[in-house]
Amino acid sequence: MSTELIEVTEGNTRVLVPNLERYRIGRKIEPAHAPVFYNPAMEVNRSISVLAVEAYSRLFNYKDLTVCEPLSGTGIRGLRYLLETKCVSKVIMNDIDEDAYKLILMNVEKNNVQNRVEVYNTDASQLLLNLRGRIIDIVDVDPFGSPIEFIYPALKAIRHRGLLAVTATDVGVLMGRYPQKCIRRYGSRPIYSIDYSREIGLRILVGSIARIALQLDYGIRPLLCYYEGHYYRCFMMILKDRSDAVLTVKNLGYVLHVRASGKIEFLKKYPTYKIRRRDVDVGGPLWIGHIIDLDFVKEIYEILISEKQYLMSNEKLVKLIEEFIEEAPLSNVPYYTTSMICRGLGSEVSSRRLIEALRKAGIDASRTHMDPRGVRALEEVEVLREIASSILDRE
Ligand SMILES: C[S@@+](CC[C@H](N)C(=O)[O-])C[C@H]1O[C@@H](n2cnc3c(N)ncnc32)[C@H](O)[C@@H]1O
Repeated sequence: MSTELIEVTEGNTRVLVPNLERYRIGRKIEPAHAPVFYNPAMEVNRSISVLAVEAYSRLFNYKDLTVCEPLSGTGIRGLRYLLETKCVSKVIMNDIDEDAYKLILMNVEKNNVQNRVEVYNTDASQLLLNLRGRIIDIVDVDPFGSPIEFIYPALKAIRHRGLLAVTATDVGVLMGRYPQKCIRRYGSRPIYSIDYSREIGLRILVGSIARIALQLDYGIRPLLCYYEGHYYRCFMMILKDRSDAVLTVKNLGYVLHVRASGKIEFLKKYPTYKIRRRDVDVGGPLWIGHIIDLDFVKEIYEILISEKQYLMSNEKLVKLIEEFIEEAPLSNVPYYTTSMICRGLGSEVSSRRLIEALRKAGIDASRTHMDPRGVRALEEVEVLREIASSILDRE
C-alpha cells in the first residue's frame, strides 16, 4: 500500500492505520478520503462494543464466541474483540477493498493472532451467506451509511440467541431530513423537525431490522440501542423461534405527534381516525418497546468498573453508560425535551430540576442519553408542563 501508516492505540489494542493528517481539509480530518477507512471518532462505539460483547457472554453464559465482522476496514474492531474480551476466541474479518484486506492481514500479524482470525476479501453479504452451516455467535455490521442491505444475510448467518450489532451513520435520513429516502430505504415514515425526531430515527432503524427478522419468522430482543452524535448503534439478540417472532410483532407500532399540545404517543395500530385531524403527524412503523435492557447495561457497567478501568479515562463513554442505566426502565416511553414541555411558559426549566420535581410528585422520570434537555416520564405532557410551570412560578 502506498499510503503512510501510523500506529494507534485504542483501548488495549495497537494497530496500523493511514496517517489521517494527510487527509486533513482545513481543520477537519476526512477519514473517508484515506485509502483504508479508520475513524477515530468511532472509538467510543468500539469500546462500548467490547463491553457489550463481554456483557452478552456473561449475562447469557456463552463462551468461546465466534464473531464475524464483514466490513472490517483496518481490522481494529475485530482485533479489539479478540484482545480485550475473555469470551471471543475467533474473529472472521473481511473487506471488499483490497488495500483494507492487506492492512487487516498486516494488523493481524502485528498482533500475532493469525491462528484466531480468518480474513477474506469479498462482498459482505456474500461472505455472510457463505457462512451457512457454521456457528456464528455474533455479527457486527459496521458499514458506511445505512446497514439495511446487510441485515438479511447477517440474520441468516447468526445462530439462535446470537448477538447482532449494527451501526447506522445515515442519521439524517432516519431522522427524516429526506423523508422519501427514509420511506424507500427503511419502509417507514419519519417525522422531521421535532426535538423527538432523534429517537424516532433510532426506533425506525430497530423496527426495520425487526421487520426483516419477522420475514424469516425470527424475533429480536433489543439489549442496547443508542445514539451518539453522528451515528446510531444497536445490540440485539436474534431469536429463531416462531414464538419470539410473535412477541416481536407486539413491539411494532406507530408514533403520533399532536402539534397543538406537543403530545407524543406510541400506538399499536395505525391511528386512522386521528389522522383526519390536521394537527397530527404519524410516523412509522417503528419499534415502540424498550430499547435499553437494564440488566444488560448494568452488566456493562460492572465489567467497566471491575475489569476495564483503562476505558474509564474516556468521560464520554462513562457518562453514556451511566445514562443508559438511568433511562433503561423508561426506555419504552417517548421523551420530551424541556423546550417541548415549557412551550408557552415564557421560560424553560432544566431537565435536572424538572426530574427532581417529578420524582417528588411520585412520577417515575429519568434523563435520556439522547438529549441533555430530554425527560422520560410516565405522564402526559400536559402534566409535565403543569409541574414545570409551578417550578417557574416559585422562582
Ligand atoms: C465504516 S468502514 C468499517 C470500519 C470498521 N468496522 C471500524 O470499526 O473501523 C466500512 C468498510 O466497509 C467496506 N465495504 C464497503 N462495502 C462493502 C461490501 N459490500 N462488502 C465488504 N466490505 C465493504 C469499506 O471498504 C470499508 O472499509
